[in-house]
Amino acid sequence: MTERIARDFPENFLWGTATASYQIEGAVTEDGRTPSIWDTFSKTPGRVTNGDNGDVACDHYHRYEEDLDLLAKLGVKAYRFSLAWPRIHPNGGSVANAKGLDFYKRLVAGLLERNITPLPTMYHWDLPQDLEDKGGWTNRDTVDRFGEYVQTIVGGLEGIDTWTTFNEPWCAAWLGYGYGVHAPGHSDIGAAVAATHHLLLAHGVGVDIARSLQPEIKIGLTLNLGAFRPGSNNQADLDALWRVDGNQNRIWLDPLFKGEYPQDMVDLYSDTTPAFTVVKDGDLKKISTPIDFLGVNFYSPGTIFGAGRHKEAREAGFNLGPIPEDAKPDHLRALGVETPGRPKTAMGWEVDASGLRELLNRVKNDYTDIPIYITENGAAYYDYVNANGAVEDPERIQYLAEHLNACAGAIEDGVNLAGYFVWSLLDNFEWAFGYSRRFGIVWIDYDTGRRIPKSSFNWYRDVIKNNAVPTKA
Ligand code: FCB
Repeated sequence: MTERIARDFPENFLWGTATASYQIEGAVTEDGRTPSIWDTFSKTPGRVTNGDNGDVACDHYHRYEEDLDLLAKLGVKAYRFSLAWPRIHPNGGSVANAKGLDFYKRLVAGLLERNITPLPTMYHWDLPQDLEDKGGWTNRDTVDRFGEYVQTIVGGLEGIDTWTTFNEPWCAAWLGYGYGVHAPGHSDIGAAVAATHHLLLAHGVGVDIARSLQPEIKIGLTLNLGAFRPGSNNQADLDALWRVDGNQNRIWLDPLFKGEYPQDMVDLYSDTTPAFTVVKDGDLKKISTPIDFLGVNFYSPGTIFGAGRHKEAREAGFNLGPIPEDAKPDHLRALGVETPGRPKTAMGWEVDASGLRELLNRVKNDYTDIPIYITENGAAYYDYVNANGAVEDPERIQYLAEHLNACAGAIEDGVNLAGYFVWSLLDNFEWAFGYSRRFGIVWIDYDTGRRIPKSSFNWYRDVIKNNAVPTKA
Protein backbone atom coordinates (compact mmCIF):
# COMPACT_ATOMS: atom_id res chain seq x y z
CA MET A 1 0.00 0.00 0.00
CA THR A 2 1.31 3.42 -0.83
CA GLU A 3 1.26 6.07 1.84
CA ARG A 4 -1.30 8.77 1.23
CA ILE A 5 0.66 11.97 0.81
CA ALA A 6 -2.12 14.44 0.12
CA ARG A 7 -5.85 14.76 0.79
CA ASP A 8 -8.04 16.17 -1.94
CA PHE A 9 -10.78 18.70 -1.33
CA PRO A 10 -14.14 18.72 -3.10
CA GLU A 11 -14.37 20.48 -6.43
CA ASN A 12 -15.53 24.10 -5.96
CA PHE A 13 -14.16 24.22 -2.41
CA LEU A 14 -13.91 27.95 -1.68
CA TRP A 15 -10.29 28.75 -0.86
CA GLY A 16 -9.72 32.18 0.59
CA THR A 17 -8.03 34.45 3.04
CA ALA A 18 -9.42 37.06 5.42
CA THR A 19 -8.83 40.54 6.87
CA ALA A 20 -10.90 43.16 8.71
CA SER A 21 -11.29 46.89 8.16
CA TYR A 22 -9.85 48.39 11.35
CA GLN A 23 -7.00 45.89 11.40
CA ILE A 24 -5.61 46.82 7.97
CA GLU A 25 -7.05 49.99 6.46
CA GLY A 26 -5.53 52.95 8.31
CA ALA A 27 -6.71 56.31 6.85
CA VAL A 28 -8.95 56.75 9.87
CA THR A 29 -9.78 60.40 9.22
CA GLU A 30 -9.90 60.22 5.45
CA ASP A 31 -12.85 60.78 3.11
CA GLY A 32 -15.32 61.48 5.87
CA ARG A 33 -14.70 58.52 8.18
CA THR A 34 -15.47 59.29 11.82
CA PRO A 35 -14.06 57.47 14.87
CA SER A 36 -15.10 53.97 15.80
CA ILE A 37 -14.96 52.44 19.27
CA TRP A 38 -11.59 50.97 18.36
CA ASP A 39 -10.10 54.41 17.62
CA THR A 40 -11.23 55.57 21.04
CA PHE A 41 -10.21 52.40 22.86
CA SER A 42 -6.76 52.14 21.26
CA LYS A 43 -6.04 55.77 22.14
CA THR A 44 -6.95 55.21 25.78
CA PRO A 45 -3.67 54.66 27.64
CA GLY A 46 -3.09 51.13 28.87
CA ARG A 47 -5.65 49.42 26.64
CA VAL A 48 -3.47 48.21 23.76
CA THR A 49 0.07 46.80 23.88
CA ASN A 50 2.68 49.49 23.17
CA GLY A 51 -0.11 52.05 22.80
CA ASP A 52 -0.58 50.90 19.19
CA ASN A 53 -3.60 52.01 17.16
CA GLY A 54 -5.06 51.59 13.68
CA ASP A 55 -4.25 55.09 12.34
CA VAL A 56 -2.00 53.66 9.63
CA ALA A 57 -2.11 49.88 10.13
CA CYS A 58 -1.21 48.24 6.79
CA ASP A 59 -2.22 51.40 4.93
CA HIS A 60 -4.48 49.15 2.90
CA TYR A 61 -6.79 52.09 2.15
CA HIS A 62 -4.05 53.46 -0.10
CA ARG A 63 -2.30 50.22 -1.05
CA TYR A 64 -5.31 48.06 -1.82
CA GLU A 65 -4.27 47.58 -5.47
CA GLU A 66 -1.04 45.97 -4.31
CA ASP A 67 -3.00 43.77 -1.91
CA LEU A 68 -5.38 42.74 -4.69
CA ASP A 69 -2.36 41.69 -6.74
CA LEU A 70 -1.13 39.60 -3.82
CA LEU A 71 -4.51 37.87 -3.67
CA ALA A 72 -4.32 37.15 -7.38
CA LYS A 73 -0.82 35.72 -6.96
CA LEU A 74 -2.04 33.54 -4.12
CA GLY A 75 -4.75 32.18 -6.40
CA VAL A 76 -7.59 32.44 -3.88
CA LYS A 77 -11.11 32.06 -5.17
CA ALA A 78 -12.55 34.35 -2.48
CA TYR A 79 -11.50 37.20 -0.23
CA ARG A 80 -13.16 37.92 3.11
CA PHE A 81 -12.92 41.52 4.29
CA SER A 82 -15.09 43.84 6.34
CA LEU A 83 -16.66 47.24 5.79
CA ALA A 84 -16.03 50.08 8.21
CA TRP A 85 -19.44 51.31 9.33
CA PRO A 86 -18.08 54.80 10.23
CA ARG A 87 -16.83 55.26 6.65
CA ILE A 88 -20.29 54.51 5.27
CA HIS A 89 -22.54 56.19 7.83
CA PRO A 90 -20.25 58.69 9.57
CA ASN A 91 -21.25 59.47 13.14
CA GLY A 92 -23.55 56.45 13.06
CA GLY A 93 -26.13 58.56 11.22
CA SER A 94 -28.44 57.56 8.41
CA VAL A 95 -26.88 59.44 5.51
CA ALA A 96 -24.58 57.50 3.20
CA ASN A 97 -21.11 58.90 2.63
CA ALA A 98 -20.42 58.42 -1.08
CA LYS A 99 -16.64 58.60 -0.64
CA GLY A 100 -16.66 55.84 1.96
CA LEU A 101 -18.79 53.64 -0.24
CA ASP A 102 -16.54 54.40 -3.23
CA PHE A 103 -13.56 52.79 -1.52
CA TYR A 104 -15.40 49.48 -1.27
CA LYS A 105 -16.70 49.86 -4.83
CA ARG A 106 -13.10 50.10 -6.03
CA LEU A 107 -12.09 47.14 -3.89
CA VAL A 108 -14.96 44.96 -5.13
CA ALA A 109 -14.34 45.95 -8.76
CA GLY A 110 -10.67 45.02 -8.31
CA LEU A 111 -11.63 41.62 -6.93
CA LEU A 112 -14.09 40.89 -9.71
CA GLU A 113 -11.52 41.90 -12.34
CA ARG A 114 -9.23 39.27 -10.86
CA ASN A 115 -11.98 36.66 -10.68
CA ILE A 116 -12.01 36.65 -6.90
CA THR A 117 -15.35 36.37 -5.12
CA PRO A 118 -15.89 39.16 -2.57
CA LEU A 119 -17.12 37.93 0.81
CA PRO A 120 -17.73 41.08 2.83
CA THR A 121 -18.59 41.16 6.52
CA MET A 122 -20.88 43.99 7.56
CA TYR A 123 -19.57 44.29 11.11
CA HIS A 124 -16.15 43.31 12.37
CA TRP A 125 -16.22 45.33 15.59
CA ASP A 126 -15.74 48.96 14.46
CA LEU A 127 -18.96 50.49 15.79
CA PRO A 128 -19.26 54.27 15.20
CA GLN A 129 -18.25 55.94 18.47
CA ASP A 130 -21.35 58.16 18.39
CA LEU A 131 -23.53 55.07 18.73
CA GLU A 132 -21.44 53.83 21.65
CA ASP A 133 -22.00 57.20 23.30
CA LYS A 134 -25.70 56.30 23.30
CA GLY A 135 -25.12 52.86 24.81
CA GLY A 136 -23.76 50.95 21.82
CA TRP A 137 -24.90 47.35 21.66
CA THR A 138 -26.70 47.61 24.99
CA ASN A 139 -29.11 50.06 23.31
CA ARG A 140 -31.80 48.58 21.09
CA ASP A 141 -31.67 51.66 18.82
CA THR A 142 -28.29 50.45 17.57
CA VAL A 143 -30.16 47.58 15.90
CA ASP A 144 -32.18 50.09 13.84
CA ARG A 145 -29.04 52.06 12.96
CA PHE A 146 -27.47 48.79 11.79
CA GLY A 147 -30.54 48.16 9.62
CA GLU A 148 -30.06 51.54 7.92
CA TYR A 149 -26.41 50.76 7.35
CA VAL A 150 -27.33 47.39 5.77
CA GLN A 151 -29.76 49.19 3.49
CA THR A 152 -26.95 51.46 2.28
CA ILE A 153 -24.29 48.82 1.73
CA VAL A 154 -26.40 46.07 0.16
CA GLY A 155 -28.29 48.64 -1.89
CA GLY A 156 -25.16 50.57 -2.83
CA LEU A 157 -22.56 47.93 -3.71
CA GLU A 158 -22.95 45.88 -6.86
CA GLY A 159 -21.40 42.55 -7.76
CA ILE A 160 -21.64 40.93 -4.33
CA ASP A 161 -23.76 37.83 -3.95
CA THR A 162 -22.60 36.59 -0.56
CA TRP A 163 -22.64 38.61 2.67
CA THR A 164 -21.81 37.93 6.30
CA THR A 165 -23.62 40.05 8.86
CA PHE A 166 -21.40 39.75 11.94
CA ASN A 167 -17.97 38.53 12.86
CA GLU A 168 -17.68 36.85 16.25
CA PRO A 169 -20.48 38.58 18.12
CA TRP A 170 -19.25 36.73 21.24
CA CYS A 171 -16.10 38.89 21.23
CA ALA A 172 -18.06 42.06 20.54
CA ALA A 173 -20.42 41.38 23.45
CA TRP A 174 -18.26 39.59 26.00
CA LEU A 175 -14.74 40.91 25.45
CA GLY A 176 -16.17 44.39 24.75
CA TYR A 177 -18.96 44.77 27.34
CA GLY A 178 -18.36 41.91 29.77
CA TYR A 179 -14.63 41.63 30.39
CA GLY A 180 -13.31 45.02 29.33
CA VAL A 181 -10.47 43.77 27.15
CA HIS A 182 -11.86 44.90 23.79
CA ALA A 183 -13.59 48.14 22.81
CA PRO A 184 -15.65 49.72 24.28
CA GLY A 185 -13.94 48.33 27.39
CA HIS A 186 -16.82 47.77 29.83
CA SER A 187 -16.85 45.10 32.55
CA ASP A 188 -20.51 44.41 33.12
CA ILE A 189 -21.98 40.92 32.68
CA GLY A 190 -25.59 42.11 32.40
CA ALA A 191 -24.55 44.54 29.65
CA ALA A 192 -22.76 41.73 27.80
CA VAL A 193 -25.94 39.64 27.83
CA ALA A 194 -27.98 42.56 26.49
CA ALA A 195 -25.34 43.15 23.82
CA THR A 196 -25.51 39.45 22.92
CA HIS A 197 -29.22 39.77 22.25
CA HIS A 198 -28.98 43.02 20.30
CA LEU A 199 -26.17 41.68 18.13
CA LEU A 200 -28.23 38.59 17.32
CA LEU A 201 -31.30 40.71 16.66
CA ALA A 202 -29.30 43.03 14.40
CA HIS A 203 -28.14 39.95 12.52
CA GLY A 204 -31.76 38.86 11.96
CA VAL A 205 -32.81 42.37 10.95
CA GLY A 206 -29.83 42.59 8.59
CA VAL A 207 -30.71 39.27 6.93
CA ASP A 208 -34.28 40.42 6.27
CA ILE A 209 -33.28 43.80 4.87
CA ALA A 210 -30.55 42.33 2.68
CA ARG A 211 -32.96 39.71 1.28
CA SER A 212 -35.62 42.33 0.61
CA LEU A 213 -33.10 44.27 -1.48
CA GLN A 214 -31.57 41.25 -3.17
CA PRO A 215 -33.73 38.11 -2.97
CA GLU A 216 -31.04 35.81 -4.40
CA ILE A 217 -28.46 36.87 -1.83
CA LYS A 218 -26.53 34.28 0.19
CA ILE A 219 -26.22 35.49 3.73
CA GLY A 220 -24.93 34.12 7.03
CA LEU A 221 -22.83 35.06 10.04
CA THR A 222 -19.54 34.04 11.59
CA LEU A 223 -19.24 32.66 15.12
CA ASN A 224 -16.13 31.82 17.11
CA LEU A 225 -17.38 28.54 18.47
CA GLY A 226 -15.42 26.71 21.11
CA ALA A 227 -14.23 23.11 21.28
CA PHE A 228 -14.05 22.62 25.03
CA ARG A 229 -12.95 19.62 27.04
CA PRO A 230 -13.38 19.10 30.79
CA GLY A 231 -10.24 19.14 32.94
CA SER A 232 -11.44 15.89 34.53
CA ASN A 233 -14.63 13.96 35.16
CA ASN A 234 -15.05 15.81 38.45
CA GLN A 235 -18.60 17.23 38.59
CA ALA A 236 -17.32 20.78 39.16
CA ASP A 237 -15.37 20.59 35.91
CA LEU A 238 -18.28 19.08 33.98
CA ASP A 239 -20.64 21.79 35.25
CA ALA A 240 -18.16 24.50 34.35
CA LEU A 241 -17.72 23.01 30.91
CA TRP A 242 -21.47 23.13 30.30
CA ARG A 243 -21.60 26.78 31.38
CA VAL A 244 -18.72 27.76 29.13
CA ASP A 245 -20.35 25.86 26.29
CA GLY A 246 -23.57 27.73 27.03
CA ASN A 247 -21.86 31.10 26.97
CA GLN A 248 -19.82 30.64 23.83
CA ASN A 249 -21.78 28.09 21.79
CA ARG A 250 -25.37 27.47 22.81
CA ILE A 251 -26.30 31.10 23.57
CA TRP A 252 -25.66 31.79 19.85
CA LEU A 253 -26.56 28.54 18.14
CA ASP A 254 -29.82 27.85 20.01
CA PRO A 255 -31.51 31.16 19.12
CA LEU A 256 -30.19 31.02 15.55
CA PHE A 257 -31.19 27.44 14.81
CA LYS A 258 -33.87 26.63 17.40
CA GLY A 259 -35.40 30.05 18.04
CA GLU A 260 -34.81 30.02 21.82
CA TYR A 261 -32.20 30.90 24.42
CA PRO A 262 -30.89 27.98 26.51
CA GLN A 263 -32.80 28.00 29.79
CA ASP A 264 -29.66 27.41 31.89
CA MET A 265 -28.16 30.61 30.44
CA VAL A 266 -31.32 32.60 31.11
CA ASP A 267 -31.16 31.34 34.72
CA LEU A 268 -27.43 31.90 35.08
CA TYR A 269 -27.67 35.57 34.15
CA SER A 270 -30.97 36.29 35.89
CA ASP A 271 -29.19 38.06 38.76
CA THR A 272 -27.63 40.58 36.37
CA THR A 273 -29.21 43.50 34.61
CA PRO A 274 -30.51 44.27 32.06
CA ALA A 275 -29.47 40.86 30.66
CA PHE A 276 -32.35 39.03 28.97
CA THR A 277 -34.96 41.58 30.05
CA VAL A 278 -34.19 43.34 26.75
CA VAL A 279 -35.78 40.48 24.77
CA LYS A 280 -39.13 41.42 23.19
CA ASP A 281 -41.88 39.42 21.53
CA GLY A 282 -40.96 38.45 18.01
CA ASP A 283 -37.20 38.91 18.50
CA LEU A 284 -36.39 35.21 18.51
CA LYS A 285 -38.43 34.64 15.39
CA LYS A 286 -36.36 37.32 13.65
CA ILE A 287 -33.08 35.91 14.96
CA SER A 288 -33.93 32.41 13.76
CA THR A 289 -34.67 33.51 10.18
CA PRO A 290 -32.95 30.75 8.18
CA ILE A 291 -29.47 31.60 6.93
CA ASP A 292 -27.68 30.22 3.89
CA PHE A 293 -24.37 29.29 5.52
CA LEU A 294 -22.55 29.43 8.84
CA GLY A 295 -19.07 30.89 9.22
CA VAL A 296 -16.90 29.30 11.91
CA ASN A 297 -13.67 30.81 13.20
CA PHE A 298 -11.38 28.39 14.99
CA TYR A 299 -7.94 28.80 16.54
CA SER A 300 -7.55 26.59 19.57
CA PRO A 301 -9.53 24.23 21.82
CA GLY A 302 -9.89 24.86 25.55
CA THR A 303 -9.72 22.72 28.69
CA ILE A 304 -12.08 23.83 31.43
CA PHE A 305 -11.79 23.49 35.19
CA GLY A 306 -14.46 24.58 37.64
CA ALA A 307 -13.85 27.32 40.17
CA GLY A 308 -11.88 26.10 43.17
CA ARG A 309 -10.16 23.43 41.11
CA HIS A 310 -6.90 25.31 40.71
CA LYS A 311 -4.92 22.95 42.90
CA GLU A 312 -5.99 19.82 41.04
CA ALA A 313 -5.35 21.48 37.71
CA ARG A 314 -1.83 22.42 38.77
CA GLU A 315 -1.17 18.94 40.05
CA ALA A 316 -2.21 17.55 36.69
CA GLY A 317 0.50 19.72 35.15
CA PHE A 318 -1.71 22.40 33.61
CA ASN A 319 -0.44 25.92 33.32
CA LEU A 320 -2.99 28.20 34.93
CA GLY A 321 -1.33 31.39 33.85
CA PRO A 322 -1.68 34.53 35.90
CA ILE A 323 -5.05 33.72 37.50
CA PRO A 324 -4.64 33.95 41.29
CA GLU A 325 -5.63 31.06 43.53
CA ASP A 326 -8.41 33.05 45.19
CA ALA A 327 -9.77 34.63 42.01
CA LYS A 328 -13.40 35.52 42.46
CA PRO A 329 -15.26 33.16 40.15
CA ASP A 330 -17.07 35.05 37.43
CA HIS A 331 -20.33 33.95 35.96
CA LEU A 332 -18.61 31.23 34.03
CA ARG A 333 -17.03 29.87 37.21
CA ALA A 334 -14.45 28.20 35.06
CA LEU A 335 -10.89 28.42 34.12
CA GLY A 336 -9.55 27.72 30.66
CA VAL A 337 -6.05 26.31 30.74
CA GLU A 338 -3.55 24.85 28.39
CA THR A 339 -2.66 21.22 28.12
CA PRO A 340 0.87 20.37 29.25
CA GLY A 341 3.29 19.53 26.50
CA ARG A 342 1.26 20.89 23.61
CA PRO A 343 2.88 23.41 21.26
CA LYS A 344 1.60 26.96 21.57
CA THR A 345 1.45 29.90 19.20
CA ALA A 346 2.75 33.38 20.00
CA MET A 347 -0.73 34.11 21.43
CA GLY A 348 -0.13 31.33 23.97
CA TRP A 349 -2.92 29.33 22.30
CA GLU A 350 -2.34 25.60 22.21
CA VAL A 351 -2.21 23.90 18.83
CA ASP A 352 -4.59 20.97 18.55
CA ALA A 353 -6.45 20.59 15.27
CA SER A 354 -8.56 17.67 16.54
CA GLY A 355 -10.73 20.31 18.26
CA LEU A 356 -11.75 21.70 14.88
CA ARG A 357 -12.94 18.34 13.53
CA GLU A 358 -14.79 17.67 16.78
CA LEU A 359 -16.48 21.07 16.69
CA LEU A 360 -17.62 20.75 13.08
CA ASN A 361 -19.16 17.37 13.83
CA ARG A 362 -20.93 18.79 16.84
CA VAL A 363 -22.48 21.61 14.78
CA LYS A 364 -23.65 19.06 12.22
CA ASN A 365 -25.07 16.66 14.81
CA ASP A 366 -26.74 19.19 17.10
CA TYR A 367 -27.72 22.08 14.84
CA THR A 368 -27.55 22.24 11.08
CA ASP A 369 -26.23 20.89 7.84
CA ILE A 370 -26.23 24.15 5.90
CA PRO A 371 -22.83 24.82 4.30
CA ILE A 372 -20.09 25.84 6.72
CA TYR A 373 -17.13 28.01 5.87
CA ILE A 374 -14.10 28.17 8.11
CA THR A 375 -14.00 31.96 7.86
CA GLU A 376 -10.85 32.23 9.99
CA ASN A 377 -8.06 29.87 10.98
CA GLY A 378 -4.40 30.66 11.41
CA ALA A 379 -1.66 31.35 13.91
CA ALA A 380 0.66 34.06 15.19
CA TYR A 381 4.36 33.31 15.46
CA TYR A 382 7.39 35.45 16.11
CA ASP A 383 8.31 35.83 12.45
CA TYR A 384 11.27 37.87 11.30
CA VAL A 385 12.97 38.90 8.07
CA ASN A 386 16.13 36.82 7.70
CA ALA A 387 19.50 37.80 6.24
CA ASN A 388 18.26 36.95 2.75
CA GLY A 389 15.31 39.27 3.13
CA ALA A 390 12.88 36.34 3.36
CA VAL A 391 10.40 35.33 6.06
CA GLU A 392 10.41 31.60 6.77
CA ASP A 393 7.49 30.43 8.91
CA PRO A 394 7.53 26.63 9.10
CA GLU A 395 5.43 26.59 12.30
CA ARG A 396 2.60 28.39 10.52
CA ILE A 397 2.79 25.93 7.63
CA GLN A 398 2.61 23.07 10.11
CA TYR A 399 -0.36 24.68 11.86
CA LEU A 400 -2.25 25.25 8.61
CA ALA A 401 -1.48 21.75 7.35
CA GLU A 402 -2.81 20.16 10.55
CA HIS A 403 -5.98 22.21 10.48
CA LEU A 404 -6.60 21.58 6.80
CA ASN A 405 -6.19 17.87 7.45
CA ALA A 406 -8.78 18.24 10.21
CA CYS A 407 -11.08 19.94 7.67
CA ALA A 408 -10.56 17.09 5.22
CA GLY A 409 -11.37 14.67 8.05
CA ALA A 410 -14.57 16.55 8.87
CA ILE A 411 -15.61 16.36 5.22
CA GLU A 412 -15.01 12.59 5.36
CA ASP A 413 -17.27 12.55 8.44
CA GLY A 414 -20.03 14.07 6.34
CA VAL A 415 -19.71 17.71 7.45
CA ASN A 416 -20.93 20.11 4.76
CA LEU A 417 -17.73 22.14 4.73
CA ALA A 418 -17.66 24.40 1.69
CA GLY A 419 -14.64 26.65 2.15
CA TYR A 420 -11.67 27.77 4.23
CA PHE A 421 -10.14 31.21 4.81
CA VAL A 422 -6.69 31.71 6.29
CA TRP A 423 -6.42 34.42 8.92
CA SER A 424 -4.79 36.54 7.72
CA LEU A 425 -3.59 37.77 4.36
CA LEU A 426 -1.47 40.43 6.07
CA ASP A 427 0.15 40.93 9.44
CA ASN A 428 -2.10 43.51 11.04
CA PHE A 429 -3.42 45.30 14.13
CA GLU A 430 -4.20 42.40 16.46
CA TRP A 431 -6.68 44.27 18.68
CA ALA A 432 -5.50 44.52 22.30
CA PHE A 433 -2.11 43.08 21.24
CA GLY A 434 -1.52 45.85 18.71
CA TYR A 435 1.21 45.03 16.19
CA SER A 436 3.01 42.69 18.58
CA ARG A 437 1.41 39.56 17.11
CA ARG A 438 1.75 38.60 13.44
CA PHE A 439 -0.91 36.35 11.89
CA GLY A 440 -0.20 37.16 8.23
CA ILE A 441 0.97 34.96 5.41
CA VAL A 442 2.41 38.25 4.17
CA TRP A 443 4.88 40.17 6.35
CA ILE A 444 4.27 43.89 6.82
CA ASP A 445 7.10 46.29 7.46
CA TYR A 446 5.18 48.81 9.54
CA ASP A 447 7.76 51.56 8.95
CA THR A 448 7.54 51.48 5.18
CA GLY A 449 4.37 49.50 4.43
CA ARG A 450 6.43 47.05 2.40
CA ARG A 451 4.87 43.60 1.91
CA ILE A 452 6.92 40.38 1.89
CA PRO A 453 5.06 37.10 1.23
CA LYS A 454 6.17 34.53 3.84
CA SER A 455 6.96 30.93 2.97
CA SER A 456 3.44 30.00 4.16
CA PHE A 457 2.08 32.19 1.34
CA ASN A 458 3.80 29.98 -1.25
CA TRP A 459 2.77 26.83 0.58
CA TYR A 460 -0.89 27.92 0.67
CA ARG A 461 -0.74 28.93 -3.01
CA ASP A 462 0.23 25.33 -3.84
CA VAL A 463 -2.56 23.91 -1.66
CA ILE A 464 -5.06 26.02 -3.60
CA LYS A 465 -3.53 25.13 -6.94
CA ASN A 466 -3.60 21.37 -6.15
CA ASN A 467 -6.94 21.55 -4.32
CA ALA A 468 -5.25 19.21 -1.85
CA VAL A 469 -3.32 19.44 1.39
CA PRO A 470 -0.18 17.39 2.07
CA THR A 471 -0.75 14.99 4.95
CA LYS A 472 2.62 16.09 6.28
CA ALA A 473 3.77 19.71 6.08
C1 FCB B 1 -10.42 36.67 15.75
C2 FCB B 1 -10.79 37.95 15.05
C3 FCB B 1 -9.79 38.43 14.04
C4 FCB B 1 -8.37 38.18 14.49
C5 FCB B 1 -8.19 36.77 15.00
C6 FCB B 1 -6.79 36.43 15.44
O1 FCB B 1 -11.05 36.63 16.99
O2 FCB B 1 -12.04 37.80 14.38
O3 FCB B 1 -10.04 39.77 13.76
O4 FCB B 1 -7.97 39.12 15.39
O5 FCB B 1 -9.08 36.51 16.03
